[in-house]
Amino acid sequence: SNRLLMGPLVGAIDQGTGSTRFLVFNAKTAELLSHHQVEIKQKFPKEGWVEQDPKEILQSVYECVEKTCEKLTQLTIDITNIKAIGVSNQRETTVVWDKTTGEPLYNAIVWLDLRTQSTVERLLKRIPGNNKNIFKSRTGLPLSTYFSAVKLRWLLDNVEEIRHAVEEGRAMFGTIDSWIIWSLTGGTNGGVHCTDVTNASRTMLFNINTLEWDAELCQFFDIPMVLLPKVRSSSEIYGLVKSGALTGVPISGCLGDQSAALVGQMCFQDGQAKNTYGTGCFLLCNTGSKPVMSEHGLLTTIGYKLGRDKPVCYALEGSVAIAGAVVRWLRDNLGIVKTTEEVEKLAAEVGTSYGCYFVPAFSGLYAPYWEPSARGIICGLTQFTNRNHIAFAALEAVCFQTREILDAINKDCGIPLSQLQVDGGMTNNKILMQLQADILCIPVVKPSMPETTALGAAMAAGAAEGVGVWSLNPGDLTAVTCERFEPQINPEESEYRYARWKKAVMKSMGWET
Ligand code: G3P
Repeated sequence: SNRLLMGPLVGAIDQGTGSTRFLVFNAKTAELLSHHQVEIKQKFPKEGWVEQDPKEILQSVYECVEKTCEKLTQLTIDITNIKAIGVSNQRETTVVWDKTTGEPLYNAIVWLDLRTQSTVERLLKRIPGNNKNIFKSRTGLPLSTYFSAVKLRWLLDNVEEIRHAVEEGRAMFGTIDSWIIWSLTGGTNGGVHCTDVTNASRTMLFNINTLEWDAELCQFFDIPMVLLPKVRSSSEIYGLVKSGALTGVPISGCLGDQSAALVGQMCFQDGQAKNTYGTGCFLLCNTGSKPVMSEHGLLTTIGYKLGRDKPVCYALEGSVAIAGAVVRWLRDNLGIVKTTEEVEKLAAEVGTSYGCYFVPAFSGLYAPYWEPSARGIICGLTQFTNRNHIAFAALEAVCFQTREILDAINKDCGIPLSQLQVDGGMTNNKILMQLQADILCIPVVKPSMPETTALGAAMAAGAAEGVGVWSLNPGDLTAVTCERFEPQINPEESEYRYARWKKAVMKSMGWET
């Protein structure tokens, strides 16, 4: 068949907080040919703790690769056409493993985890004026439980086995990208210990101006620099896959998932932005070759660097910890729905929260507040309130949180965004997307290719020097809109609801001091 004559293909591993996926694209048309997805367990061993098993993550990657290759073969597509693979991943999540055995020395501490609240407080005491923004000009980040440095500090302080392994020179640290790439390129048998600039920029050990690990920061957090992976660009050959169906294929793209989505949404121009609705919600705005420091609670992060000799692009980021996770919580903790899709139906039946507001500050509040003491609240309840209203309020919470970061981005950039490009699993929820347009008072647009995170990683991999099967010519790169949601309520009503939300946020703060 014609399909056998198909041109080069590129695969992408998308290792998110909730699931792992492997997707294969046609490098010439960006068409998605096949994919496979596996859910990942989250463990909550104590209140506020969130862990994952690094071995399970790795197994899920292998399983997704094998299953996708089987599906391609069934479609009579020759898998030897896969010329490269890219990796995109949940960011900040921290793994330490033994390089002599390949075994993780502790579970992965997931980005959302709050156990480092006391570590952060202890470190803050050493900073003049307890200024959590002291390292902002170097890292783009405030001192927070969110980033890898404090998680690694906690592991070194609390896990005997890790301390031993460090003393004996057996320990390696990495975010999920490093763990996957090291393992896929051979692990104990010559695995490549590296990360890319976007992932490195989320550790709080990386200087985003010099693009190097920062010795002073490592000293401040007391992290031995030998543990750290080598930092590479987001698009270059890191190594070759050593086993399985894709043996010999280069791994040549690597981006934190939010950066990958920025690339996949074709936000290559200064001022272009995207919002991805996953476990959390992350709005990134490309600010070009200069890091812009936020005055309004946003992070400065690395957007991408698509090649060793290519320029780095920075982004302003508004991070919301809980978006899809609130829907999962309604399912798993309250049991008011059996599937996450049901939430849309519940919300649609009432079309209003009836004055109920839900601030899902399960992991404190991230942007723009950075308040670890906040905890979730549901308020405005009356005898009339039922599960439909709570479901509606949960969806509205995702939209209000996005409004808060959009406002911050608009203030920092000076030019307000005229529409919002969105992607991620939750964008299939039409009620949510309409609510989002209503609450932002600007149109919300979905691209025709919704798998933007994977697409971004595939583009980076396919365009790498020595691979060269994907063209990154500006002319080939425009996002095609497939769905558009226009604001339908009047701005006064929108403002009124937003003001009530802010009042609820104030009530959630300072709960856990
Ligand atoms: O910073 C965390 C982020 O990278 C996780 O993304 O899509 O798993 O919520 P997601």
